[in-house]
Amino acid sequence: MKKIAIVGAGYVGLVTGACFAQKGNRVTIIDNNQEKINQLLEGTIPFYEPHLDTIVKDALAKKTINFASTIQEALSDNPAFIFSCVGTPSLANGAADLSYVENVAAEIGTHLQQHAIIVNKSTVPVGTAVKVHNIIASKLTERGVTISFDVASNPEFLKEGDAVNDFLMPDRVVVGVDSAHAAEALYDLYKPFLTTEKQFLVMTPPSAELTKYASNAMLATRISFMNQLAHLADKLGADIHQIKHGMAQDRRIGAHFLNAGIGYGGSCFPKDVAALVQMGMEQHYPMTLVKEVENINHVQRIWFSHRISTHYGPALATKTAGIWGLAFKPETDDIRSAPSIDVIKKLLEQGANVIVYDPVATENIKKIFGNHISYADNSQQVLQQADFLVLLTEWEEFTKAIPSQCLQLKDKVVFDGRNCFNPEDMQALGISYYCIGRNSNAPYDKPMSNQYVFTSHSDANIW
Ligand SMILES: NC(=O)c1ccc[n+]([C@@H]2O[C@H](COP(=O)([O-])OP(=O)(O)OC[C@H]3O[C@@H](n4cnc5c(N)ncnc54)[C@H](O)[C@@H]3O)[C@@H](O)[C@H]2O)c1
Repeated sequence: MKKIAIVGAGYVGLVTGACFAQKGNRVTIIDNNQEKINQLLEGTIPFYEPHLDTIVKDALAKKTINFASTIQEALSDNPAFIFSCVGTPSLANGAADLSYVENVAAEIGTHLQQHAIIVNKSTVPVGTAVKVHNIIASKLTERGVTISFDVASNPEFLKEGDAVNDFLMPDRVVVGVDSAHAAEALYDLYKPFLTTEKQFLVMTPPSAELTKYASNAMLATRISFMNQLAHLADKLGADIHQIKHGMAQDRRIGAHFLNAGIGYGGSCFPKDVAALVQMGMEQHYPMTLVKEVENINHVQRIWFSHRISTHYGPALATKTAGIWGLAFKPETDDIRSAPSIDVIKKLLEQGANVIVYDPVATENIKKIFGNHISYADNSQQVLQQADFLVLLTEWEEFTKAIPSQCLQLKDKVVFDGRNCFNPEDMQALGISYYCIGRNSNAPYDKPMSNQYVFTSHSDANIW
């Protein structure tokens, strides 16, 4: 049993804390959002993440988990590990905003009572471990006390929607450390989650910090690659779905992250890709490939909305758009940087009415659009009330829908941003079906012009 403090009760902090508690450690999770702490004390999870409520409730019953609203309170219990899991959103220039990480470091320095390993789990640029070390050291100096401490980087690779399984059964655990003592202590802590020692990767803090960005940028690259290829496939009469299968059988390539669609969103890929670009700029080494990945993703959303306006022209102002899917991906209620936000904004700008449905993310989208749009109780209600359908999240409920249900739409038009249906089925039903890279364009779509081929955001002036 180890004493662990976790700062930040978000998607990463709460999953991390709950999983450590499940292994018998004594965990205190701190969040400065009192409302979140109150909910957690009652056993309510403030966001949707499958299986998380079960382990949190179990840990509460066993008294292995506790919640607090100040770091001071948690440090009075002298934890051996302090995990920092606060947000690192994008600044206007794309760099990671480190203010939350730095505030946590300052509070740790102010309240640390005895040796601890401070573990940075947030996604942070290279050099942050040193920054955190210096902030804590200067606070200790201000206090006139000498307390030894370690700072380690331990980037998190869980994916929302399957976060608990990812944490309990990780592909790998990456730790960046400066001392053998910290490496050994962290190995000991993570051992119950590992099936083999080889999954535990010890490296320097800069390498650990950069590994996280490299991993997310690689996944984003695969998505943008397939999205760009999908446009070429459409022009050449090829089918991106078939191409994907042809590529995925190659074990060097594999099947993951090869789906063409409206592009990536969420709280990680967009901000981490932007931060990696910014790190390159700061080092006077432009990350041109990664920048292009970002550009392609940006254009993909604009192009998708443009497709809807091209189909309807000014008549769009008289139509009701039905949206299936608001979350940035299935099995989460997270709408941070979700394509749905941009698509809804464009539809509203053009005067369309909008009715939406998502199995779990509706409450979050209400905070943005309020009564400017309507909210359906189920997916069928959308089909009954809308002129056309826009599919933006590949929830199983939508991918398993029977194509003929779309005949309820007044105009029998579907814009599918996730390639959920078979174009031939839709065509056979007489539905105008716009998907991505599956040669669905003719006879409905207008060919894409060269105006979409550009290399910087400022050129994206297609409205
Ligand atoms: N969400 C993911 O899927 C994921 C996956 C891997 C890595 N990450 C990274 O992990 C970090 C956290 O992400 P998240 O999605 O969990 O963020 P989040 O926004 O869901 O949670 C962060 C929490 O920290 C709290 N907080 C901020 N400052 C605090 C302070 N001084 N004291 C106490 N609490 C404080 C906030 O109130 C919030 O509840 C980010 O760097 C992110 O990039 C996220």
